[in-house]
Parts: sequence; C-alpha cells; structure tokens
Amino acid sequence: MKPGNRTFIISAGASGLALAVARDLHSSGAYISLLDLNASSGSEIIAELGSSRARFFETDVSDTGSIKAAIQKTLKWVKQTGKEIGGVVAGAGVGLPGLIVDRKNEPLSIESIDFVLNINLRGTLDLIRQAVPYMTTVKPEGPDGERGVIIMIASSAAFDGQMGQVAYAASKGAIASLTLPLARDLSKYGIRAVTIAPALFESNMTKMMGKKVKQSLENAMEFPKRAGQPVEFARIVRDSIENVMLNGTVLRLDGGMRMPARL
Ligand SMILES: NC(=O)c1ccc[n+]([C@@H]2O[C@H](COP(=O)([O-])OP(=O)(O)OC[C@H]3O[C@@H](n4cnc5c(N)ncnc54)[C@H](O)[C@@H]3O)[C@@H](O)[C@H]2O)c1
Repeated sequence: MKPGNRTFIISAGASGLALAVARDLHSSGAYISLLDLNASSGSEIIAELGSSRARFFETDVSDTGSIKAAIQKTLKWVKQTGKEIGGVVAGAGVGLPGLIVDRKNEPLSIESIDFVLNINLRGTLDLIRQAVPYMTTVKPEGPDGERGVIIMIASSAAFDGQMGQVAYAASKGAIASLTLPLARDLSKYGIRAVTIAPALFESNMTKMMGKKVKQSLENAMEFPKRAGQPVEFARIVRDSIENVMLNGTVLRLDGGMRMPARL
C-alpha cells in the first residue's frame, strides 16, 4: 500500500522511533494522527509538520476511554479530509527494569508489572482493537484488495531479554506472539499485521540509559557497532506498509545483536 493520501494513527508519535515514522509517512503524503501522552511535544510536532496533514490527540493508551476519544477525533478529521485510515502504528512502550526478586528478597512489585504490561501490551491491543472496525469498512485498493496495515513494535527483548527485564520481555514477547493470529484474523479484510523488533536505537528511551549501559549494548552489536537511527527504523516501517507480501511476521532490526544475559 502506498501511504500517500491515507491516514495513519501513530501512538507514541511525539518521540523517538514512532516520531521518525510519522515524519517519514508525512513526507510521503500521508495524513498523520499522532496519539501520545506528551501534549507539549505533540504540539511542537504539529507546528513542525503543519496542520494540513497532521493532528495531535493527547492519549493514554493504557486508558480505553482515552483511546476511544482519540479514535473518534481522528475519524471526525478523516470525514473532513476524505483520507481513509490506512494503518495503525502502535509504538507506545515503556521500560521499567526490575529483578523478579531483589537483593532484599522482595518480589518485583505488581504495580511495576502492571504499568509495563498495561502500556506495552494491553495498550497496543486496545488501540488495534478499537481502530480495526473502521479499517474493515475502508474501500479496498489495488489488485490485492488491500485495506490497511497494522505495525507493532516489539524489541530484541522479546527473544533475548536481559536480567531485570521480565515485565518488558513479557510484554514484547506477547506482541511478537500475537502478530500471526492478528494477521490471520484480519486477512479476510485485506488488512496485514507486521511487527518490528528493534535492538538499540537512539531515542528518549535510550537517552535515559547510563553511558556504560549504552556502551556495552553497542559492544554487543555485531555490525554496525552503534545504536540504530530512528530514520533507519522508519525505513523498515515504510517497507512493511508498501510491501504487501510482508504479513504475520516479526522482523528483527538489530545489527545482528543478541543481547547477553547481563551488561
Ligand atoms: N529505542 C530503542 O532502543 C527501542 C528498542 C526496542 C524497542 N523499542 C520500543 O520502541 C517503542 C518506541 O520507543 P522509543 O525508544 O521511541 O521511546 P521514546 O521514549 O522516545 O518515546 C516513547 C513515547 O511514548 C509515549 N508514551 C509513553 N507512555 C504512553 C502512554 N501510556 N500512552 C501514550 N503514549 C505514551 C511517550 O510520551 C513518548 O513520546 C517502544 O514500544 C519501545 O519499547 C525501543
């Protein structure tokens, strides 16, 4: 599917990887509906992209009602522009490291587990669940009768999560696992599902890492020995949208890195 003249709903679009995707799709003529918690970054990005083909809706993906409101506002905008929803990029994700049992023999708090799973897993599924009924009604296009694409973001942690990443790895492993059944559920509508699993990429999330942690992750890369750039991430998302043969699969984007157990 060509992204131009279609509307894409992008969660976490105010920062990092999903922002790079938003900029890339916008530059290819797409209409962008950015959903993010961070309203001040959101308005800066709309100022950068201009309001003719971009909107920001303050959204907490761990809140069903908040997603519902953002989708309703997006649909209202779609009615005005006539540019049907072409896809969802579910980018919202957080990390909150913690060992399953700490040095004082205290278990990982259920609150921290819930926090990560509610945003990364429940929030991703809830956004998709609420957007799909509108995507199934879009006029199919092209020789294959394609209606849309769902892009999810997992992580290397889905496969080789490190110590202290049980909650994060559980959330990202679940995203990887649900990709095929989601594609199977949606195939009769001409809607595809693709998950990208990045290793270390430059973003606000990785800016918060200590220098030593980041350096040892870069050392674990095979080639190139550096963090990926958000534009390199955006490129694989664009390919996933444009290449109709990509479906029901998880694409690792990791410079050959397999994360060691500990840094
Ligand atoms: N950067 C990496 O190295 C890396 C590696 C693997 C996976 N990922 C995944 O990529 C995705 C994007 O991460 P990033 O590195 O760009 O992070 P980032 O910190 O730069 O951006 C995350 C964005 O998510 C938003 N957000 C947080 N909680 C939210 C919520 N409840 N509702 C709506 N928005 C919310 C934040 O406001 C922020 O704008 C995440 O799912 C992350 O797990 C990142």
